[in-house]
Amino acid sequence: MIAVKISFLLNGDPVTAEVPDQVTLLEMLREHFELRGAKEGCGYGECGSCTVLVEQEAVNACLMLAAFVNGKSVQTVEGLAGKQCRLDPLQEAFVEHGAVQCGFCTPGMIMSAKALLAENPRPSRDQIRRGMAGNLCRCTGYAKIVEAVAAASKRGCSCGESS
Ligand code: FES
Ligand code: FES
Repeated sequence: MIAVKISFLLNGDPVTAEVPDQVTLLEMLREHFELRGAKEGCGYGECGSCTVLVEQEAVNACLMLAAFVNGKSVQTVEGLAGKQCRLDPLQEAFVEHGAVQCGFCTPGMIMSAKALLAENPRPSRDQIRRGMAGNLCRCTGYAKIVEAVAAASKRGCSCGESS
């Protein structure tokens, strides 16, 4: 096993880490940076609970080697709220619409929704369902999750940093 030194932007801040070359992005975020929002559900790309953004794209962090993000930007759920906003509109909408039950899937759901709304700011309910199809909720709260994403799509962020 070889140690690799990685430099990247993590939630807007430049960071470096030295990690074994086989460590995944998810392991690095959770263990090295102690950002435990992204979760390991399946560990093989089926559940979406590990979703984070790399270069604004939603990725399964359990499938990506940490070394891949060298020189790139990574955003996790911990970095979503803007400096002036208490919560991102998506986070507010999830709370207001009861879209959080046990919460295990929630960070991944929110990061996938973030990528979806960046690409399509006003998605239809069907587009939301399709866009979030890679994220599983074991509490089966899908209807409220779709409602929350739809509500967030109609909401702006007053500081202009999020959404
Ligand atoms: S833990 Fe990564 S997709 Fe399930
Ligand atoms: S809220 Fe429990 S897994 Fe989705």
